[in-house]
Amino acid sequence: MDIARIKRVKPLMDRRFGMFIHWGIYSVPARASRSEWIRNVDRVTIEDYQPYFDTFNPVDYDPKKWARLAKEAGMKYAVLTTKHHDGFCLFDSQYTDYKSTNTPCGRDLVKEYVEAFRAEGIMVGLYYSLLDWHHPDYPAYGDMHHPMRDNREFKGQGEHFERYVEYLHNQVRELLTNYGKIDIMWFDFHYGEMTGEKWEATKLVKMAREINPDLIIDDRLGGDIKVEEPVYYAGDFGSPEQMIPAGGVRDYKGNPIPWETCMTLNDNWGYSQRDMNYKSAKHVIRMLVECASKGGNLILNVGPDARGNIPKKSIEILKEVGEWMRLNGESIYGCGIADYPKPEWGRITKGEKAVYLHAIDLNQDTISMTNFPYKVKMATRLSDGSLLSMAEPWNVDSYDGENNVFVHMPPFPVLDPVDEVIKLDIE
Ligand code: GLC
Repeated sequence: MDIARIKRVKPLMDRRFGMFIHWGIYSVPARASRSEWIRNVDRVTIEDYQPYFDTFNPVDYDPKKWARLAKEAGMKYAVLTTKHHDGFCLFDSQYTDYKSTNTPCGRDLVKEYVEAFRAEGIMVGLYYSLLDWHHPDYPAYGDMHHPMRDNREFKGQGEHFERYVEYLHNQVRELLTNYGKIDIMWFDFHYGEMTGEKWEATKLVKMAREINPDLIIDDRLGGDIKVEEPVYYAGDFGSPEQMIPAGGVRDYKGNPIPWETCMTLNDNWGYSQRDMNYKSAKHVIRMLVECASKGGNLILNVGPDARGNIPKKSIEILKEVGEWMRLNGESIYGCGIADYPKPEWGRITKGEKAVYLHAIDLNQDTISMTNFPYKVKMATRLSDGSLLSMAEPWNVDSYDGENNVFVHMPPFPVLDPVDEVIKLDIE
């Protein structure tokens, strides 16, 4: 991976924990199975989808509240869907009428989001769907995903695909110029022939980087970021979805490369009032620790409802995560892979001057590690700053190898059942 890329993506990777926001007029039908894919799943025509456009009026939309929640949860960046596959734009684009300013809502939702999150010091990202099920020049009949994929009346749509590509480029330019400096552009996604230069991706990324040389871009335009010399538009980080890869993300030579797992908090990206299958705060924290220990980020999703409120249950979970992050965030931000195998009792993250032991499943009151590659100065319990003894057992030589580290843990009843973090200061 080239140096420029690593430098560009570092500010994002250091932040480790982000908020994904899937919001659009699909929050009106709020369907339980694949909310934002409802047009695809039920083969809904544009006409039958129109009532959701006509009634979209998020009277409670206050992105300052969302931004404060993200901050409280310990999230340091955010990505909002500015246009999803249904083609509906949450911003005042001059290239379409299919936008929030023409619904009863009448507001540029992206503008307000960008301002609110930026004001909280949160890095701002924009998601933009490459697929567009509303645009008259996007292939429909025979396309793999289009809602009208089986409808012969749509034969021939897409013959002037270049007009769609121009639209896509124009909108990306709008997004990158009308709202100040955007930090992250999150394109979604490529499939079959709809990949790379089909989107005129080289030209698109050139344009984007001319506007903002620091812009961080995901890897979903196409191309392969794992090869030694990825194509120009291949993007800056890998984007595994709904899973954390066993070994993190690595190039074909085995070297770690930047990545971010995107994950729903329940089972859907978009809002669904029936989906109560939420992950617990414990589950979220452990996922985040797993990502960081493997050198990656976690971007966790919320799906605001049609009034513009983030579901209560999501708020509750995020606040709980935030309490843990307030005390233990130091072991996540700016931390990555340690030069030591994953221990039986948990995981390890490494910062610049410290190694963090995440005791998740400890069966004894001493942590012992052998052949530890770092010289440890002292051990403290991260959540309360108390010093822990590192005394060696008298007969250690009979059992362990070289460079042993012992940490005498606090008593079991006080250990954090989610993840007890021990900080080892290293030389
Ligand atoms: C997918 C889905 C989508 C979601 C996204 C998030 O590709 O199409 O609905 O927005 O991934 O990663």
